[in-house]
Amino acid sequence: MKVEELVARALEAQKRAYAPYSRYPVGCALSAGGAVHEGANVENSSYGLALCAERSAVARAVFAGARVLDAVVVATDSSPPAAPCGMCLQTLSEFAGDPAAMRIILVNPAGERRELSLVDLLPHGFRREQLTTRPGGPGSTSGTSGAGG
Ligand code: THU
Repeated sequence: MKVEELVARALEAQKRAYAPYSRYPVGCALSAGGAVHEGANVENSSYGLALCAERSAVARAVFAGARVLDAVVVATDSSPPAAPCGMCLQTLSEFAGDPAAMRIILVNPAGERRELSLVDLLPHGFRREQLTTRPGGPGSTSGTSGAGG
């Protein structure tokens, strides 16, 4: 998947945002293998229910069968282009094979672009390994029972 195409798809996705309250449309295009999955933010009159573009794209990707995301383009109107929020970084990290290899490309319609990796943006994120390597966790022979202790 060429980055140029992914950027174009994210900028198109941004136009599909439903953001009447913040007036801050966000578009996202993810590549997984050869496939592209897009999303946009979806707001609600109950403001706290706003769904970010990144998580809407991840939901579509996972529903389509993707489990490892290679590159993520996020399109906002900000200058410099804005990075994903913390909740979205955590969601993306679930589907990063190697967080250092997950490319996150931030763009805006003016043509500005910045590329980072997931590790740049979320250097000490929670990973599923933390669940499997904890004392008393699956596969462990020591530690607490998980109750009362
Ligand atoms: N938003 C996103 O879509 N992605 C982010 O990573 C941060 C914020 C949306 C949520 C809300 O609709 C609007 O941007 C303003 O916060």
